[in-house]
Amino acid sequence: MTVEPWTVKYRPGTSRDVAGNKTAIEKLREWIDSWSEGRPTKRAALLYGPAGVGKTTVSEALAQERGWDLVEINASDKRSGEILSKIAGLASTQSTLFSKGRLILLDEVDGVNLREDHGAITTILQIIKDTQYPLVLTANDPWDPKIRPLREACLQIELKRLGVRDGLPLLKSILSKEGVKTTDDALRFIIDKDRGDIRSILNDIQLLSGRNRTLTMDDVNLLSGRDRTESVFEVLRVIFNSRTVAAARRALSISDLDQEMLFQWIFENAPYQIPKPDELERAISALADADMYFARIRKTQSWHLLSYALDLMTAGVAVAKQTPTSGWVPMKFPQRISSMSRTRMSRDLRKRVGVAIGQKSHVSARRAQQLYLPLIRFAYEHSPEKFEQIAVWLEAKDELNEMLSAELK
Ligand SMILES: Nc1ncnc2c1ncn2[C@@H]1O[C@H](COP(=O)(O)OP(=O)(O)O)[C@@H](O)[C@H]1O
Ligand SMILES: [Mg+2]
Repeated sequence: MTVEPWTVKYRPGTSRDVAGNKTAIEKLREWIDSWSEGRPTKRAALLYGPAGVGKTTVSEALAQERGWDLVEINASDKRSGEILSKIAGLASTQSTLFSKGRLILLDEVDGVNLREDHGAITTILQIIKDTQYPLVLTANDPWDPKIRPLREACLQIELKRLGVRDGLPLLKSILSKEGVKTTDDALRFIIDKDRGDIRSILNDIQLLSGRNRTLTMDDVNLLSGRDRTESVFEVLRVIFNSRTVAAARRALSISDLDQEMLFQWIFENAPYQIPKPDELERAISALADADMYFARIRKTQSWHLLSYALDLMTAGVAVAKQTPTSGWVPMKFPQRISSMSRTRMSRDLRKRVGVAIGQKSHVSARRAQQLYLPLIRFAYEHSPEKFEQIAVWLEAKDELNEMLSAELK
């Protein structure tokens, strides 16, 4: 069950569809068009600004609108050295009367790794000197000392964070196409919280409105401490995709979520984010251990155990997952939160199911619900035979069927 991310679905097709930064985009457009009267003095433009404001999108859209070939390289790519020398060739080839135009995009030049590729900046400067085609460089941080030699050689154009004035109409139009009811205050809140980073904003609104097709302050408040520094989405992405313990732990430092809330998020999403059953089993068992520590900490105030619990729920999950998810898998709301909006009947049903599982697996009904329901739900959606087996073993086939089909409605 892979869903198309809204960042892809609503990627602006033309530069006019790009929200905000009109003057900057116009400046870039004029500079690109000035090439038709011969090479301008500045042969490269440095498009800079924070992540997710449209630097890559604008460059690609402008090339596409003109029907030009786009030669693109991400400078933080490991093989950028090799590719750069190929690009040098493509850039300096004299155009003939009949050849197509070309835009050369060196994306994220501030990400270039000078230790692995120490000649990179010199190579880029040489490309700027020789190029017969407009060269667009992008950077998050134009003041990075690494790229200082490049600044002088470029026409500098800043893309600013998106504000409410340009953000609101964009988000409203997307949400109305998706049939999601929303309110201005909720959207303002999200724009502000994600500091105008449209990639994060789109991820957040997609996640938030998936719950019940609304996006109001209620939905927003559910997952936010008042000033979350990073979207939950980002935090989970870090946890599920880290390869090292240290990287997974970093997720805690970027999250303002209450620790047990974060636990719920990780727990709920693990079955979807970890496709391999044996890896999932290891992750769930790390989470079960973390849960046990949390319980002990609450009961006996043994705070020295906290770091174990936190490591288990972040790093324990990260190292259990070895196989990457294929495609983009959307994040789910923790059951504990979303069940608040469910009917009491469904809650009773959950309890009955919990009791059934508990009896079989010798744990409390509450813990059974917490630990096993996500797995069973996962089997229900993805593997009918496995679900059948489990349901029969639990002697709770009817209850499970009734509950899960109601949930998925
Ligand atoms: N100004 C914008 N208007 C509309 N959508 C945008 C804008 N900026 C970014 N996006 C959305 O965010 C995604 C990422 O944008 P991108 O161009 O990769 O940002 P950057 O290169 O600045 O990090 C795009 O695919 C698009 O969906
Ligand atoms: Mg980019």
